Amino acid sequence: MEQKKVLITDTTLRDGHQSLMATRLKIKDMLPMLEQMEDAGYYAVECWGGATFDSCLRFLDEDPWERLRTFKRYFKKTKMMALLRGQNLLGYKPYPDDVIEAFVATAVENGLDIIRVFDALNDMRNIESTVRAGKKAGAHVQGAVVYTISPVHDIQAFVKIAKEMQQMGVDSICIKDMAGIIAPLIARELTLAIKAAVDLPLEIHSHYTSGMAGAAYLLAVEAGADIIDTALSPLAMGTSQPATETMVAMLQGSPYDTGIDLSKLFPISAYLREAIKPYDIKYAVVGGVDANVLSYQVPGGMLSNFASQLGDDLHRLPEVLAEIPLVREDLGYPPLVTPSSQMVGSQAVFNVLAGRYKMVTNEVKAYLRGEYGRTPASVNEELRRSIIGDTPVITERYANIMPPGLPDGRKKIGHLMETEEDLLSYMAFPEVAEKFLQTRMAGRIKVDLNMAEANARDGMPGVCPI
Ligand code: CO
Repeated sequence: MEQKKVLITDTTLRDGHQSLMATRLKIKDMLPMLEQMEDAGYYAVECWGGATFDSCLRFLDEDPWERLRTFKRYFKKTKMMALLRGQNLLGYKPYPDDVIEAFVATAVENGLDIIRVFDALNDMRNIESTVRAGKKAGAHVQGAVVYTISPVHDIQAFVKIAKEMQQMGVDSICIKDMAGIIAPLIARELTLAIKAAVDLPLEIHSHYTSGMAGAAYLLAVEAGADIIDTALSPLAMGTSQPATETMVAMLQGSPYDTGIDLSKLFPISAYLREAIKPYDIKYAVVGGVDANVLSYQVPGGMLSNFASQLGDDLHRLPEVLAEIPLVREDLGYPPLVTPSSQMVGSQAVFNVLAGRYKMVTNEVKAYLRGEYGRTPASVNEELRRSIIGDTPVITERYANIMPPGLPDGRKKIGHLMETEEDLLSYMAFPEVAEKFLQTRMAGRIKVDLNMAEANARDGMPGVCPI
């Protein structure tokens, strides 16, 4: 049989800790394993973007740009990947094109090799400026097709998106199953259909939430997928990716062998298992299968949000879960991925606690005005009118009518800026970044990277060589 090596993108440094420890892993605890990760034989490491940017500024007193440059000192042959939410960049609402362009160009300058871009609604107009900026900056741009289950999503709908991405000039395609609900035989069918329609490398990204991801990967690989996303075992399974070690072992000796030497992975995981122990356990979602995702498509992250939103009303969670499919239908079946997952989730909570649509979030209002793009199916028109009245609905690409953002941002934050990157942090998360920059200016942030790197050079603490 023809030898077809399957490549691995390791997500430990992004999705792994985002899924299992609320994106709290600090750079100082990553440093001791970066050299070994670079040496492991991965195609890429997903290490930036998603929630990491926000978390660095908001919780960790870390400059996300500094983190990116630090990674680049270690990852030379291994490509560095970031996940961007298209026009929503790293946030929860659309940003103007000038911000997208500057952000993407600067991220590539600081070391990014691969930009994975998706739009929560699969509205291709929302990834245009990111794709263009990424290509212009010389990055590999990957278009991610957001997988979901609804009456209006079928294989052909996803293939159409992949084709549009190819026409837009992306370098590869990703099947992005953020909820971990793709059934193995569907993964096979979708892979075959995309590979037949589009002549580009195909990567599959799933989560272990429903327990199907390992099998889905295997069938996708047999059907022609080129790259799979996995996380090192201490931050794998549960709502994270299948374990890197498991997938490497599963494919070993087959025509799809990854070529990765398992013995190189064991010490890295041994280190990581110790390194995450001191973190507050309340962030950690215990692994295992969460059957809720199969009935309501509610990913693990959303469930923990409900717990905090409901507070004393936590006993009403079953009502909220039952409300989600109804809100989704009213909103035209958006996939449940940031920011639409937060939007649908919060609205479902309000509907249960205050009565249906008695309270409506600003995000849902903006969504109904068309600011997030074209919805997969029509929204409930009666509901739309009752919420936004006669306000006209935007049907063109919303960014076309947004004024540039950078000049205004520079006026507001110029006094705190040390670099152009600071302005981009501010554009991405104004309040959080301003607070971070003020704290830094006051000299209260002292992350001693030199010290941490010195420790890293001394070898990985707490590791028994296997
Ligand atoms: Co993911």
